[in-house]
Amino acid sequence: MDCLSENLQKITDLLGCGDNFPEELKTCLERASDIVTELRSSSGSANDTSNESSMHRNKAKQEENPRETAGTGFYKMLLHLTRSKKVLLTQSSGSTGLALADVLPEDGRVTLCVSNDHHQEQVSPLATKIERKVGAISDILKELAASGEQFDMVFIDATERSHINYYNVIMSSNMLKMNGVMCVQNVFVRDRRSQENINDEQEREARKVTDLINSDPSLEQVILPIDGQTIVARRKLTHPSEFKEDVVFWGYRGLSILDRMRLDGKVAYVTGGGQGIGRAFAHALGEAGAKVAVVDMANEKAKAVTHELHLKGIKSVAIAADISKEEDVKRIVDTIVTNWGRIDIACNNAGINMNSASEVTTLQEWDATFNVNLRGLFMCCQAAGRIMLSQGYGKIINTASMASLIVPHPQKQLAYNTSKAGVVKLTQTLGTEWIDRGVRVNCISPGIVDTPLIHSDALKPLVQRWLNDIPAGRLAQVTDLQAAVVFLASEASDYMTGHNLVIEGGQSLW
Ligand SMILES: NC(=O)c1ccc[n+]([C@@H]2O[C@H](COP(=O)([O-])OP(=O)(O)OC[C@H]3O[C@@H](n4cnc5c(N)ncnc54)[C@H](O)[C@@H]3O)[C@@H](O)[C@H]2O)c1
Repeated sequence: MDCLSENLQKITDLLGCGDNFPEELKTCLERASDIVTELRSSSGSANDTSNESSMHRNKAKQEENPRETAGTGFYKMLLHLTRSKKVLLTQSSGSTGLALADVLPEDGRVTLCVSNDHHQEQVSPLATKIERKVGAISDILKELAASGEQFDMVFIDATERSHINYYNVIMSSNMLKMNGVMCVQNVFVRDRRSQENINDEQEREARKVTDLINSDPSLEQVILPIDGQTIVARRKLTHPSEFKEDVVFWGYRGLSILDRMRLDGKVAYVTGGGQGIGRAFAHALGEAGAKVAVVDMANEKAKAVTHELHLKGIKSVAIAADISKEEDVKRIVDTIVTNWGRIDIACNNAGINMNSASEVTTLQEWDATFNVNLRGLFMCCQAAGRIMLSQGYGKIINTASMASLIVPHPQKQLAYNTSKAGVVKLTQTLGTEWIDRGVRVNCISPGIVDTPLIHSDALKPLVQRWLNDIPAGRLAQVTDLQAAVVFLASEASDYMTGHNLVIEGGQSLW
């Protein structure tokens, strides 16, 4: 792109010297310049001069990160696509490390191996994500291999003398993770200027690495003309044959355990999805790949959560409904089936808690609590269950409570505790009744979770007392429950039914 831009500029200058060039030629040239400008700006290059909006965009990018090149822009995109966390760079500049660190998550890390420390990088907040190792690179690599380090992405420069050895250490010690990607700088597709700087010996070294990759049947590669790179990944295993029928080796239905927990293409709903635990469930299910109907009697809250999901690229719909009303429950199920054709995952999570000493608990309180927590939940289970039974598959996950097991104190909540014990028994009963027709019913029993539910005037002052009863020493956060709902919603938990999954930091054990 640089060469192209340079040449277009030369032609423009030459044209400027004479008058007898056809107008059409100038127009074509302008058009070509515009295309180059656009391509350079979209690939992260920053020096165009013609297109004003691109110029502004590039200027902003350059100010954000003065070192970014077209190649770095591509690697950043690759890191993003592969969700890499750990990156190994051999013999690259610290500026590349900083640019890559920029796209890594909080717990991501770039390990930068350099043979000398001449190019100390300026201080950057991203530097905390970079681990600089100085010394003989082969020694550093052996040390990393011995300590069991593994990387999602490894960059090696095939023109360096010993890179064939680096390559061998990395591959033989499985330093590249199972689904990792290796980027090998490929001199044969580098731009003209870089090629001029490459001598015969470097070319021979580069060819050795390329030949080695070519001769390895377990690898696949693609050569990219960006920055002269060969991208290498492990081929999906097709052998060895001794594991032919072994589902542990190949993964059940050919899927790795984490892939078995994905919910791609599944249709889910979450009642009480507008805030607290339900909101966290909706996000978790959506992140795992499901489309999510967010059901809540507070329409604005349901809509706000669908907006959040939309921002993350998750398909969702808001349904305003009161699950204690039969007609609303019917409408929830009908709306989802009309929109998305099925229901795979039903999270019956909406619940309320009122506090009163048992001797003064009114029938209104009792009925209101049971109408939502148990009667409403049963109606949801039945309506979703009918769809799931007709599909021959479904996962129902009810939200019960640790209060189904122990009597939380000192607050008084007879109706709540009893309703939640009912949720567990309902779950066990449906779980056994429907499993042979493909419908699993389980429940999650959280301990005390830091949500608006416990922010009432009656409960707020009790937090310190509860903490003394919790071995984990803290209240649960909604994020502590997210993995459980995804697991129970996924096919990985298909053999579980009628289970009460208690997540309470050990509180019920004390
Ligand atoms: N927070 C805790 O400490 C805790 C502990 C154990 C179990 N739980 C259970 O987890 C579930 C969620 O609790 P939370 O803490 O997120 O509560 P929350 O009060 O923060 O949120 C509940 C949501 O449910 C909605 N809702 C209430 N009644 C409804 C109805 N009839 N129809 C539709 N939507 C309704 C509310 O509008 C609200 O958005 C409840 O079943 C609760 O009993 C909570």
